[in-house]
Amino acid sequence: MSIQWFPGHMAKAKREAQEKMKLIDVVIELVDARIPLSSRNPVIDEITKNKPRVMILNKADLADRNVNQLWREFFEAKGYLVLEVDSQKGKGIKDISLAVKKQASAMIEKMKRKGMNPRAVRALILGIPNVGKSTLINRLANKKIAKIGDRPGVTKSQQWIKVGKEMELLDTPGILWPKFDDDAVGFRLALTGAIKEDIFDFQESAVFLLNYIKEVYPDTLKQRYQLQEISEEVSELFDEIGKKRGCLVSGGMVDYDRTSELILRDFRGGKLGRLSLERPDKSFI
Ligand code: G4P
Repeated sequence: MSIQWFPGHMAKAKREAQEKMKLIDVVIELVDARIPLSSRNPVIDEITKNKPRVMILNKADLADRNVNQLWREFFEAKGYLVLEVDSQKGKGIKDISLAVKKQASAMIEKMKRKGMNPRAVRALILGIPNVGKSTLINRLANKKIAKIGDRPGVTKSQQWIKVGKEMELLDTPGILWPKFDDDAVGFRLALTGAIKEDIFDFQESAVFLLNYIKEVYPDTLKQRYQLQEISEEVSELFDEIGKKRGCLVSGGMVDYDRTSELILRDFRGGKLGRLSLERPDKSFI
């Protein structure tokens, strides 16, 4: 994934999402449960106007359980219907069509009042890259959707996927861009895989992560790297982890590139346990 969000791309993505809005009744907004604010699109409210919305904290399996709960409460207080989902394993999937139907109840009632038979509710998944849109669509469709490659001269038409009797899902999700005008947001997006690290410095990303974990999840660090104490200075912490793990260059100095990579791999591979990089109750760094 090499996404560079140039203004032209942003305008196009926004236009495409707005086009799709005409077809749908309910928006399913997907965010990464580990970074629900950083993984939100800055203009989603403008794009979706006043469409009813279901907000999904996806990858909930990778995030801190207690913090997931805090985020649910945070977004519920704003009037959203919020679900925690693990699209990879399929946890929480069943609740989605119920939630979508609930959000469309006004539309359904209106049709009934007019004496019409309510049609299936039409929904669209919206979210930034890598947040799990395709995985979720496949789960909802209950099968692997064959990807139609680009064929010259053939226009790809919009396809609807039936999810039970009462919901239809547009088969192509709306891809939106994350905002990373703030360094911390950029690091969170890079760490969770939403944007390529090569836009960001590997070592800086690892330093950001260590700084955060040592404050919020110090025991995790102690356990994973068998540390007695957590050094106040992140550079010392880096040295200790590098030495423990044998990430050294000749002369016995710590190899910062390898140590950074090791820390990032451990985080991404879930070796550091379930971690949330953002919390609604406190702001760190
Ligand atoms: P996108 O369409 O929004 O770009 O995201 P996509 O579904 O391609 O998912 C991006 C990555 O996130 C995939 O991993 C996918 O398996 C993983 N993922 C999606 N939802 C969840 C979830 O709820 N929990 C966890 N743990 N992972 C999730 P990948 O490594 O890029 O691909 P793969 O190894 O799964 O093939």
